Amino acid sequence: MSHTPEQLQIFLDIATEAALDAGAIVQSYWGNLNAIEEKGRSGDLVTAADKASEKAILEVLRRHVPEHGILAEESGKLGDSTSQYLWAIDPLDGTTNFAHQYPPFGVSIGLLINGIPQVGVVFDPFHNELFRAAKGLGATRNRQPIRVSETVELRNSLLVTGFAYDRRETPDNNYAEFCHLTHLTQGVRRSGSASIDLCYVSCGRLDGYWERGLSPWDLAAGVVILSEAGGKITAYDGSPWKIESGRILATNGKLHESLSQELLQVTPLERWANS
Ligand code: IPD
Ligand code: CA
Ligand code: CA
Repeated sequence: MSHTPEQLQIFLDIATEAALDAGAIVQSYWGNLNAIEEKGRSGDLVTAADKASEKAILEVLRRHVPEHGILAEESGKLGDSTSQYLWAIDPLDGTTNFAHQYPPFGVSIGLLINGIPQVGVVFDPFHNELFRAAKGLGATRNRQPIRVSETVELRNSLLVTGFAYDRRETPDNNYAEFCHLTHLTQGVRRSGSASIDLCYVSCGRLDGYWERGLSPWDLAAGVVILSEAGGKITAYDGSPWKIESGRILATNGKLHESLSQELLQVTPLERWANS
């Protein structure tokens, strides 16, 4: 069953309420963190801000849509797992940045309907930027429509990527791809927040993004925003994107094919090939 624009707008407004509440809470912890813990893997941090933000989001969802399923980074699976609705929540995307008082970071809330992301809100409370989209309703930044860039050639592009927490455990750690694309473009940024990366491609600040080792909560909201802003999302090889793959190639569409070709040519750097 497909949803009417009015139904999607209701979910978009719920996600917005949750993201704004949570963003205000996150911002209240800025420069004011007394406990930063590691969650198992070295460098994978969680703070009081992550936990308080998630609590606020769950409260809003429980009030409006108690019958829906939830996948939240800090709490795991909650609610009805048989529901066609699944909210994928990253209460603080960019925790390492936040812990070091380095923006950007964001609250990311996506809604999958029958496994397909259809509503997304990303709120960056530091810069007060609210990115929103729902399938067929367009994408906005602070309520104004946004669109991807027109950059066609890699040599004129500014890209962004990231490195997962397992980077010391696998040769597939994206270091070689980073070097290869840094050489061919005007630059490759590493912002530290996957959801913000997708939003920046959506509004044309960046031309493309790729990364591996991601979770559904990193991507669910941002992919809706990028698709609605005219962008393209696939696997690295151009085949259909699957959220559970944790791997994404997301661009303005115009340089998608070239970036895909370059990513496929990369071999791991010798220094890390057997790590
Ligand atoms: C991380 C950020 C980062 C990406 C990592 C993610 P977190 O999320 O999105 O940009 O490179 O792979 O895990 O831990 O700050 O929520
Ligand atoms: Ca994240
Ligand atoms: Ca997080």
